[in-house]
Amino acid sequence: MKPIAGKRILVCGKGGSGKSTIVALMADVLQKKSYQTLVLDGDASNPEGLIRLLFGLGVESEPRPLLEFFGGLGRVTCPVDDPSPLTRKDDSVPVPERKIDIAKEIPPEYTIQKNGIRMFQAGKIETYGQGCDGPVEKVVRDFIVEGEWVSLIDMKAGIEHFGRKITDTMDIILVVLDPTLESLSIAKRIERFCRESKRNTFWLILNKIDSKEMESVMMEKLGYLRSRVLGSVSYDPELVHKELSGGSLLEGDAHEEIAKIIESLERSLLEGESKKEE
Ligand SMILES: Nc1ncnc2c1ncn2[C@@H]1O[C@H](COP(=O)(O)OP(=O)(O)O)[C@@H](O)[C@H]1O
Ligand SMILES: [Mg+2]
Repeated sequence: MKPIAGKRILVCGKGGSGKSTIVALMADVLQKKSYQTLVLDGDASNPEGLIRLLFGLGVESEPRPLLEFFGGLGRVTCPVDDPSPLTRKDDSVPVPERKIDIAKEIPPEYTIQKNGIRMFQAGKIETYGQGCDGPVEKVVRDFIVEGEWVSLIDMKAGIEHFGRKITDTMDIILVVLDPTLESLSIAKRIERFCRESKRNTFWLILNKIDSKEMESVMMEKLGYLRSRVLGSVSYDPELVHKELSGGSLLEGDAHEEIAKIIESLERSLLEGESKKEE
């Protein structure tokens, strides 16, 4: 069974908590478990961050931003001013009504496919005075693809996507927490947003945990939210070195702690499904 197949997963949390790192490691594990894996870089403010973590420094050229595929800043609007769904340039049927067929519709310059993983970029801040990144977030909200693809979506820091209701088209929200009070406050705020929007499919991942004690402190401070924790990832200096030297996180064996987290997510989704059927 492949309970994560076809799901859109938004990965969010505090700046520097490890969102992009976790996305890259999750993509690796999912691909090795033979999920069709797609990664969408939804962080407009981080120029090359995720590509490097996935594929290392050696990537020939970056994929063109999907924002351009949809007609650029002149055409794609901010989701708060104009919540209407994204449409293709030459077609008025909204994307959520007829999902995107990646193989047929998306020209090769908009994607990188390497090590079995597909990667896209929603859009970046390219010029001084360009304006807000709302249109980029609209692309993130509505880039809904056909088929069994798991979409792993790496977001910028913070909680603005909830303010913009980007999360409405997501199946799963994962919040990455580093051991800080700020991460704990963000998780609590997100839990409230999920309650307000009647979403039950959100979970937490603890990252940069350097001891059992630290993990216990985090669990204690999470209070009733601790049942939402899928698992922990240890503090690993190797990850810092890899980032700094521009190495790919996809090399070598799959990350064991991340593999356990994926298994927990699969279990949670299956439990949710069986509860729905009861
Ligand atoms: N488990 C971990 N152990 C040690 N360092 C980590 C871990 N996860 C992430 N990092 C490091 O933390 C920094 C920020 O990670 P990044 O994934 O870019 O965060 P974000 O995308 O949330 O801003 C990077 O230097 C990264 O190597
Ligand atoms: Mg990041």
